[in-house]
Order: sequence, then C-alpha cells, then structure tokens
Amino acid sequence: MARRIEIRQAARTIDVPDGRTILESALEEGFAYPHGCRSGRCGSCKSRLLSGEVGLLPHTRFSLTDDERAQGLILACRAQPLTDCAVAWLDEDEEQLDLPVRTFRTRVVAIDDATHDIRQIRLEIETGETVTFKAGQYAQVTFDGVPARDYSMANRPGRAQLEFHIRHVPGGATSEHIARSLKVGDEVTVRGPLGSSFLREQHTGPILSVAGGSGLAPIKSIVETALTSGLRRPIHLYFGARTERDLYLIEHFNLLASTYGNLTFTRPFQGQPIRTLPNRPSNGCDRERRQNLDGWRAYMAGPPAMIDASSIMLRELGLRAEDIHADVFFTPEKALI
Ligand SMILES: Cc1cc2nc3c(=O)[nH]c(=O)nc-3n(C[C@H](O)[C@H](O)[C@H](O)COP(=O)(O)OP(=O)(O)OC[C@H]3O[C@@H](n4cnc5c(N)ncnc54)[C@H](O)[C@@H]3O)c2cc1C
Ligand code: FES
Repeated sequence: MARRIEIRQAARTIDVPDGRTILESALEEGFAYPHGCRSGRCGSCKSRLLSGEVGLLPHTRFSLTDDERAQGLILACRAQPLTDCAVAWLDEDEEQLDLPVRTFRTRVVAIDDATHDIRQIRLEIETGETVTFKAGQYAQVTFDGVPARDYSMANRPGRAQLEFHIRHVPGGATSEHIARSLKVGDEVTVRGPLGSSFLREQHTGPILSVAGGSGLAPIKSIVETALTSGLRRPIHLYFGARTERDLYLIEHFNLLASTYGNLTFTRPFQGQPIRTLPNRPSNGCDRERRQNLDGWRAYMAGPPAMIDASSIMLRELGLRAEDIHADVFFTPEKALI
C-alpha cells in the first residue's frame, strides 16, 4: 500500500510504497530533495514532519539527535511513512540546488592507476556537451553489464572531460569490473548531477576538507573550485589513507599549496579524526576550541567509519551540523539487491 506524501517546498505530492523511504521515492520521481549519504549518517536530508506519522530506520546520533526527534524532525532517507504525511526539508541552507538531472552517453578516454587499488577514469560526452554540476556532486554511473553505482566528479565543473577516482572493493560487482575489465573506448552512461554535499559558493569563510581514500575525488573538485574562485580564505585539506601506498595526487596538492598560499595540505592523519587545526592551537579549554571553527564549513568524503568519527569530532570542536557536508562512500542496500 502506498502513502501520499506532500513535500512542501516542491508543492507536490508523491506516493511512497510500503517499505520505501520518503527520499527514495522523491529521488525516483526526479526532484532534487536535499540528501547526501542516503544511510542516516550525514543529516543532509533532515526534514520537519508537518503532519502524519513515520517509522525511522536506524541512523547515527550525529545525523539526528534525540532532541531534534522530539522537536518533530526526521531524516527523509530513513523515514518510512505509516500514514499520509506532509514534510518540509529544512531551509537553513541558503543554497539549495535545482540543477536538472540528465542522462549522458559517454566514452572512456583515459584510465590511469592512481594507487594499487584506485583508478582514475576520464569520460567524454559523445555529443561534446559538458555536465552542469556543483563541485562535490556525484553521478549515477552505469558501466556495461554491471549495476549502476554512485561516483563523485573529481574535476572542476565546466570541463570537457569528467574525471572519476574509483577504488576496487574486492568482490564488488562494479568496482571489480572497473579494476579488471574496463577499456578505453567503452560506453558509460552517466546520470546526474546528484547530491547536496557541494561547495557553498555564497560562503566566503574558511574551509576544512577531509578525504579518505577515493573520497579525494569530490574533495579535489571542491578544493580546486574554491582555490580558483579568487577568494583568499584559508582552506585546509586533510587526506587520510590506511598506508603510504594508498595515497595519491600528493605532488599535485603540494604544488597547489605552494602556488596558493591559502591552501594547507596535511597528509595523512592515519585514520585518526581531526583534533586541532593547524595554526589554531587549542589549550584544551572547551570554549576556546569551540570558537576555533566559528564561520567555517567542512566538506568530507570517504568510508563510513571515517565520516562518522570525523563528524563527531567536528561537532565537538563546535562546528554546527548544517555547516558539515559529507558524502559517505558505500552502496545503498537497495542497489545491492
Ligand atoms: C554519494 C556517493 C558517492 C560515491 N563516490 C565514490 C567515488 O568517487 N569513488 C569510489 O571509489 N566510490 C564511491 N562511492 C562508492 C560506490 O558507489 C560503490 O559503493 C563502490 O564502488 C562499491 O561498489 P561495488 O559494486 O564494487 O561493490 P558492491 O557490489 O556494491 O559491494 C560489495 C560489498 O562490499 C561492501 N562495500 C561497498 N562499498 C564499500 C567500500 N567503499 N569499502 C568497503 N566495502 C564496501 C558492500 O557493503 C558489499 O558487501 C560513492 C558512494 C556514494 C553513496
Ligand atoms: S542522513 Fe539522510 S541523506 Fe544522509
């Protein structure tokens, strides 16, 4: 049985069948409901339940606190309607996106090994168009004969080629194909842009960016776009990896840091979450640590454990949840079926 859900900002009503979440159905209907991880980890889909009842699937404390739940807030990616409902996503973000989601036929024009298990893939759109997107967004990418998966654009918007960094997950349906069989000339379908973890261009304050493994892809796009915007605000990039051989593009970012004095590149932090910022030492006093991140925005991408740990740490350092934008690299359960 389907429930009728009114989405206030979109001024539309959608059907959400039993067992589906509000976000799943909204995205299937093709409109830009704010979201990130789709797994209850980032808080990007936080919404107000205006009427009706929902059941909430498990989520982290960071993405929705008990207080927020008590105040009638829900996560659209975790909310399964129990009755007809009305919801509104939170409008605190001054920059909601309304870029059209389109499907492009592309071809592989280059494949490079970035590390022992990450490949850099470049795609060109057959019609010669460019994909309009915001730095940090991702696309649903379909390689021949394997399931569609989400991959983040690593290039700056407006470039002729799309760049992706794809890590081989052993036994993974799609990344194994990319690691073993993908060839230059193969056809690839790209649907996008998607995601709300994009560079906020109206924010002119300092940026803290954190990447784990192939999470460097969207962070590279964000950092490069922010650097070329003409603003001289501080940008800190932390690139974490399990071992030295999991790091890549180190020379590229060292060069950017020496070209742009406002970029600080730190690597790696060996899987540890951030405790203090460079040049902003804390004396351990909670109040002073909290002031450190006033006016900052954080962008993060990488494996779930890293995002969870870093999110908690950034909140403890005083960053507001709405100033943290995160993409969690995993395959949503529905896509695994
Ligand atoms: C918004 C978003 C953006 C993403 N961007 C990128 C990107 O730019 N680069 C990139 O490499 N990946 C990215 N991912 C992850 C990507 O979509 C796939 O989840 C990943 O490539 C694994 O797909 P697969 O088909 O190879 O493995 P699957 O067949 O989906 O998974 C096989 C098994 O591995 C587990 N698994 C899935 N992902 C991982 C993982 N990362 N580490 C360990 N185990 C895992 C699954 O739970 C499953 O049990 C992104 C994910 C999201 C949600
Ligand atoms: S918590 Fe819902 S999209 Fe991340």
